Amino acid sequence: MATSACQGLLLMALVAAVLSTASGTLQYDFYSYSCPKAEEAIRNATVKIISEDRTMGAALVRLFFHDCFVKGCDASILLDQSNSNPQPEKLAIPLRGYDAVNTIKAAVEAVCPNVVSCADILAYAARDSAMVTGGFTFAMPGGRRDGLGSDLSDIPANIPSPSMNVQDLATRFGAKGLSTLDLVALSGAHSFGQTHCSFVTPRLYPTLDKAMDRAFGDALQKVCPRRGGGGTVLDNNRVTDPNALSNQYYKNVIARQVMFTSDQTLMSDAGTAKMVQDNADDPVGWMARFAGAMVKMGGIEVLTGDQGEIRSFCGARNNAS
Ligand code: HEM
Ligand SMILES: *[C@@H]1O[C@H](CO)[C@@H](O)[C@H](O)[C@H]1NC(C)=O
Repeated sequence: MATSACQGLLLMALVAAVLSTASGTLQYDFYSYSCPKAEEAIRNATVKIISEDRTMGAALVRLFFHDCFVKGCDASILLDQSNSNPQPEKLAIPLRGYDAVNTIKAAVEAVCPNVVSCADILAYAARDSAMVTGGFTFAMPGGRRDGLGSDLSDIPANIPSPSMNVQDLATRFGAKGLSTLDLVALSGAHSFGQTHCSFVTPRLYPTLDKAMDRAFGDALQKVCPRRGGGGTVLDNNRVTDPNALSNQYYKNVIARQVMFTSDQTLMSDAGTAKMVQDNADDPVGWMARFAGAMVKMGGIEVLTGDQGEIRSFCGARNNAS
């Protein structure tokens, strides 16, 4: 698996161009002196995790998104409940992949203890998930430090909701320094992974959302009953391989076969609709835009230098009480 994925596309040059404006304080090959095997150890562990459970690539990519959108990419999403953080982010939204992150961190600690931040591990693991599940890779800068706090009250104002329209989404992404091009490119992550019926039923009842393909909606009504069943798990992409990161998402948007209003709404603005079409028509162009946007997202409000700390266990501050 790893070998074939590594033969995928390499999008370094493009991402380097994006980086200079996005995250000047982060650096490529950040660990080349302090831990030269860091990125390799993360890649090895991530490849193994996804080969054992193909759904984990999506989980790792989503963790990175949620981390970066709340308090910046500082691994705040990973902190467990403690006296110092009694209401951490992870209590509010059930995300998958925490055990996988701990496994990756343990592999890195075995090579160089106390050097590589959990925030960087999330960034590299998300990048490597794209390699394994999407067949393309790109350079990701490092140097993020781990934050000390996590508070679920930060979530509502920062994480976009699946009922949002394109204007609200653009505002949320804009607040993080991301453009509508980035919004559309990153939404391609909904080509893989899972959702729960509870996020979809508002579009199914009392009547089917007119923006949803009728046959697609009929099928969803059968798996997601009107009452109960909100916890039923669905594949985001019900058309092709649900564990492959790809531009299939954009074809699904055009066919009106996507889960959320926040997906379908990309067709309701002429500018974003054109971007959806471009990404549907040009898989390699989408990969480049996705890669660029992932790097940009990875630069949101990062802690660097001597800010924060390097956690030794991703679920807790080093001096947690
Ligand atoms: C544009 C605004 C976005 C909204 C409103 C949104 C909303 C959601 C929702 C409601 C789910 C289903 C969660 C569940 O049922 O457990 C989901 C899943 C997912 N989202 Fe997003 N999302 C957005 C953007 C993104 C971005 C930018 C990324 C990453 C680049 C992303 C990656 C994912 C992935 C990979 C999954 C599947 C997770 C899994 O399999 O566990 N999403 N999203
Ligand atoms: C990564 O895996 C390769 C191939 O199995 C192995 O040769 C290499 O030593 C591993 N690197 C690390 C840092 O674990």
